[in-house]
Amino acid sequence: MTDRLILGIESSCDETGVGIVRLGPDGALELLADEVASSVEEHARFGGVVPEVASRAHLEAMVPTVRRAAEQAGIELSDVHSIAVTAGPGLAGALLVGVSAAKAYAAALGKPLYGVNHLAGHVAASTLQHGPLPERCVALLVSGGHSQLLLVEGLADKITEIGSTVDDAAGEAYDKVARLLDLPYPGGPPIDALAKRGNGCAIAFPRGLTGPRDSKYDFSFSGLKTSVARWVERRERAGEEVPLADVAASFQEAVADVLTAKAVRACQDLGVDTMVISGGVAANSRLSGLAAQRCAEAGIGLRVPKPRLCTDNGAMIAALGAHLVAAGAEPSRMDLSTTPGLPVGTIQVG
Ligand code: KG4
Ligand code: ZN
Repeated sequence: MTDRLILGIESSCDETGVGIVRLGPDGALELLADEVASSVEEHARFGGVVPEVASRAHLEAMVPTVRRAAEQAGIELSDVHSIAVTAGPGLAGALLVGVSAAKAYAAALGKPLYGVNHLAGHVAASTLQHGPLPERCVALLVSGGHSQLLLVEGLADKITEIGSTVDDAAGEAYDKVARLLDLPYPGGPPIDALAKRGNGCAIAFPRGLTGPRDSKYDFSFSGLKTSVARWVERRERAGEEVPLADVAASFQEAVADVLTAKAVRACQDLGVDTMVISGGVAANSRLSGLAAQRCAEAGIGLRVPKPRLCTDNGAMIAALGAHLVAAGAEPSRMDLSTTPGLPVGTIQVG
């Protein structure tokens, strides 16, 4: 069998992503194009993603981004074997733009369409950089919209959620804490940078859901965020200077500590020797540093894709589409619908 080109379209949040992946006859993946148009700056002044603004931006960016991806890959769209698109989870209006565009391309080009799960796509991103996943691995997905621990026993067929956040997502906590420290949105990068100048042990912020009776694999970040807010308020009320770098470093330490401890524990409990970390927060220097240290101590292999593959992008959707094509999955129906609350176990829609 010859090479097959898979076009991937992502529009679940504020990034319009289009990727093109080559699926070799042996199942190997090669990334040919990864184009992203982000509307993050349009949301900055609101401190979070505004769904209507995101949908409008997707609408404007979609066709030019597809065109740029084809140029980057040096292909004609008619060379594409099939089209994969994020069908959920995500913002309803934003998903609708990507799925409508993918249907239009699939119909116009006469190509099969695969509606896929965004979360599974994040895990698939790792295979573009590190090659095939072992039979079983644990994936920690941490971004502005999700914080999940997954047991992955097949990218094309079996992903099980073993834990998730009961309140804020990890990236959401970063964004909210950044806001209260007067740092720009999105809050991850400025907190990460500020934390490098601070002491992560300076303030003992709480580690959510780590008591003996708490859920082993679920997360909670809302109490941590409130605790940071109260700590800063107390200092300000007392007329004392707020040691911003120490606050950032101690907050970051609390997040990285809980995420890595629970992910390592999941690997140990489930007898898994590979961990994948993905999502925007995977770009965090302390999270990846602590994960590397703890995984090495526990004899677990760690895969953290480069930041560009961790944040939302179309390449990860093309990669997941390629895994489905390689596994012989039937295409989705042309009338497939978007599913904003799609559970992670549903890898393909319709
Ligand atoms: O995956 P992503 O681009 O979009 C989704 O939310 O799906 O993730 C964005 C999130 C934001 O909350 C941002 O603050 C966070 O990832 N982030 C980081 C870092 N870079 C981005 N959080 C911590 N440290 C970073 N270096
Ligand atoms: Zn995402």
